[in-house]
Amino acid sequence: MNALEPLLEFLSIPSVSTDPAHKEDVRKAALWLAERLRERGFRTELHETPLHPILYAERLLDPKAPTVLVYGHYDVQPPDPLELWENPPFVPTVREGRVYARGASDDKGQLWAHVAALEGLPARVNVKFLVEGEEEIGSPSLLPFVREHREKLQADVVLISDGAMFAPFTPTLTYGLRGLAYLEVRLKGARRDLHSGSFGGVAPNPIQAMGWILSKLKDEKTGKILVPGLYDRVRPVSEEEKRLWPSLDEEALRRELGVEVLPGEEGYSPLERLWTRPTLDPNGIWGGYQGEGSKTVIPAEAGFKVSLRLVPDQDPEEVASQVEAYLREICPPGYTMEILRLHGGRPVLTDPFSPPMRLMARALEEVWGRPPVYTREGGTIPVVAELQDALHAPVVLLGLGLPDDNLHAPNEKFDLVNLEKGIAVLKRFYELLARGD
Ligand code: BES
Ligand code: MN
Ligand code: MN
Repeated sequence: MNALEPLLEFLSIPSVSTDPAHKEDVRKAALWLAERLRERGFRTELHETPLHPILYAERLLDPKAPTVLVYGHYDVQPPDPLELWENPPFVPTVREGRVYARGASDDKGQLWAHVAALEGLPARVNVKFLVEGEEEIGSPSLLPFVREHREKLQADVVLISDGAMFAPFTPTLTYGLRGLAYLEVRLKGARRDLHSGSFGGVAPNPIQAMGWILSKLKDEKTGKILVPGLYDRVRPVSEEEKRLWPSLDEEALRRELGVEVLPGEEGYSPLERLWTRPTLDPNGIWGGYQGEGSKTVIPAEAGFKVSLRLVPDQDPEEVASQVEAYLREICPPGYTMEILRLHGGRPVLTDPFSPPMRLMARALEEVWGRPPVYTREGGTIPVVAELQDALHAPVVLLGLGLPDDNLHAPNEKFDLVNLEKGIAVLKRFYELLARGD
């Protein structure tokens, strides 16, 4: 496939946005993509930000024709742990019809489908690209950029591939994303580390305090989050909406995860829990001695990171405040607690049957030979809610990845059949749009 060679080049650039050591590589990925868009007749602008550049590009031929705004991100997550990769993460390798590399599915491979689909683009459609290098760190520069450049970004439809199909060979349209609130909590006890024999019995232990705190965040039996007010704005889901969903093979999911039960909030099905319910998960924890063997110490400090996935109509700032207030309330006496707010993202719900969604459904059916299934996603793309608010244009989320693509994990991959079909679907979408269907 001639779309593959350039993708391998794109994937070989280690554009890890969170790592200052890769700042130049992130920039290199932006410049590389800009060049590919210029080759295809686009005018490009690189907007500098305090961190990584935003790439804007446009090919506007006909002021009366519909305009599509494509969003994607060229940054990737860190590749570690490196020893678990079968090929080096930035030496993209094709095995059995899949390309393996960091960013293969999230999001370079999916974004590349949109660039490759520009070959033979009809004249009666205008296309804009908005591509960022900070998605994996919460889009701090793009959110204000969108607010400040509504005019420039104006479009009739926003088109995004940064998610997954429901299952292999199952064309999928997504109409919802969860949001995110992320906090870091640091607990301090005594002013220094202490010998646990000399001081055990009178010294506060922040690891123990952390255990008490963590156990009060979620009810063990019901899986309910215990933060007061957290569910106040959670929108219930209609039976009608649930009838739209494909059915989940729970047995297959258990097998894939290597678990016997799928724990979660009581009273809700796994798909409801994944797509329509908030969650709270500790993501990291530290404190005390973690090396080989034993060390009898009472640490002065311990901490954890915790994130919540949010659903309409929850607001990340409000939820972070609710969590912060509750953490301070349950913090035992004798400890000081420091809370940092890391990034967030608002949840999204779009109309599954907006005109461009219907058009994409037609393109999907023509290419795959079967109509799409309709899903929400558990993940977060922070800029989508911002684009919705700023542009008032319908959003089409066309996931081209698969649930087993190993996003953010070792051996991330992208199935080449999805690249090929994705390109065909997008080309067909542009044709239908240009025809005014
Ligand atoms: N592409 C993902 C979001 C995603 C994952 C959508 C799975 C659909 C299915 C995106 O790059 C991502 O990883 N987002 C982060 C949010 C960000 C604020 C770090 C996430 O969801 O954790
Ligand atoms: Mn992504
Ligand atoms: Mn990601």
